[in-house]
Amino acid sequence: MTDDTVRLLLQLADEAGVAAKRDAMFAGEKINVTEGRAVLHTALRQPRGAQVLVDGHDVVPDVHEVLDRMATFADAVRAGEWLGYTGQPIRNIVNIGIGGSDLGPVMAYEALKHYAQRGLTLRFVSNVDGTDLVEKTRDLDPAQTLFIVSSKTFTTQETMANARSARAWLLATLKDDAAVARHFVAVSTNAAEVGKFGIDTANMFGFWDWVGGRYSMDSAIGLSLMLAVGPDGFRELLAGFHEMDEHFRTAPPEKNLPVLMGMLGVWYNNFFGAETVAVLPYDQYLAYFSAYLQQLDMESNGKHVTLGGEHVDYQTGPVIWGQPGTNGQHAFYQLIHQGTKLIPCDFIGFCQTLNPLPIPGGAPHHDLLMANVFAQTEALAFGKTLEEVLADGVDPEVAPHRVFEGNRPTSTLLADRLTPHTLGALIALYEHKVFVQGAVWDINSFDQWGVELGKVLAGRIVPELGDAESDLAHDSSTNTLIRRYRARRGA
Ligand code: F6P
Repeated sequence: MTDDTVRLLLQLADEAGVAAKRDAMFAGEKINVTEGRAVLHTALRQPRGAQVLVDGHDVVPDVHEVLDRMATFADAVRAGEWLGYTGQPIRNIVNIGIGGSDLGPVMAYEALKHYAQRGLTLRFVSNVDGTDLVEKTRDLDPAQTLFIVSSKTFTTQETMANARSARAWLLATLKDDAAVARHFVAVSTNAAEVGKFGIDTANMFGFWDWVGGRYSMDSAIGLSLMLAVGPDGFRELLAGFHEMDEHFRTAPPEKNLPVLMGMLGVWYNNFFGAETVAVLPYDQYLAYFSAYLQQLDMESNGKHVTLGGEHVDYQTGPVIWGQPGTNGQHAFYQLIHQGTKLIPCDFIGFCQTLNPLPIPGGAPHHDLLMANVFAQTEALAFGKTLEEVLADGVDPEVAPHRVFEGNRPTSTLLADRLTPHTLGALIALYEHKVFVQGAVWDINSFDQWGVELGKVLAGRIVPELGDAESDLAHDSSTNTLIRRYRARRGA
């Protein structure tokens, strides 16, 4: 980026009203217009004593009331004081949730495992495929297992199915409905449905409709994470989020990281036609980070109409993908270096490792890892010309195959150390990058109607699969598939 590019991109951000839209979000205006909701995940990390009004009501005390209840509960479980039905302490925690009620907690648990209480086993069940629940519970003792049913709506098919099966798994051993109260807690905005399921609402941790599912990991949805890293670790994470929120809210555009990252993405997406963005964390603990960002970015900005309902005539959100380095280097980097597609990449690395591991007679693991970051971004930017290849003495017939054109864009985020604070700031950075881009594209980054049709159709098809005689009125392709399945399905 030249200074001129930055100037023009910031001019575009200004014309798109990014700053005013940001201020409207922080102020609790109902910017999620299709659902008539405020968008206030930033309130979840406000310090005690701050004020954020929703319809005239200050929500910050509510946020801290839930955080305090979570902390009391987490301390009791971590200290072995929360006892299961047979009087044994809890050793295993299974979060049941999907989408935003799974991806944030599992990503952050993996990211912060270094800080986790290792005596607790954490598992995350999301898929409605029974295999997920079966495999993740098969070696657990029900008497020592706590399920956290995490669902904003408490109506999501996958989560409710897994929760019912988990209850059956528990009761198959403990054989008393009263055991449910000691082994199930809920995280939801829907107290009525939680009660109907049979979970005591005293064991429910709430949040609010102004928290979008994919922006909810720092609400009570993060309970599993708090159990793992403790209330102090969780609060450190929130402080990291808040620091980035404040930076986004107050820093001038030319020094504002989410604004610059967002506009850079707009430049590649809309001016260079880049269809995808690769996110490449060089840290094994961030193994789930790209998967988390897929929901954050693609569910937010995968939209085809403007806020006013007009079909866009420009590209909106990119495809997000990636894997931790260095594994990707031996898989898909070939295409990034020499393929025909432009793939902007975010490299993420840390100066200090949490697991220093010397290698006898050589550089330590972390230097090997980070050397790869700097080598990849250098190679992608500057490449290797035909002349340079030939000067190495390469056979002229092979030489063209060994040319790297370079000029392939990357951004490198280099932080000191992966801590809860750094992770919070990193996630908030991406949240706000997504916000900036949605603002420029004039779309609603906070609804997700695109997931509805499939849900409705699946709901209609479920009874048809179990009833071999019922008439089918789908298209011929779907009818044939269902008939084949009905004829051959197992028990
Ligand atoms: O996939 C749609 C979605 O609504 C996501 O936005 C959300 O994170 C996920 O389903 C789970 O929803 P819930 O927390 O209500 O179970």
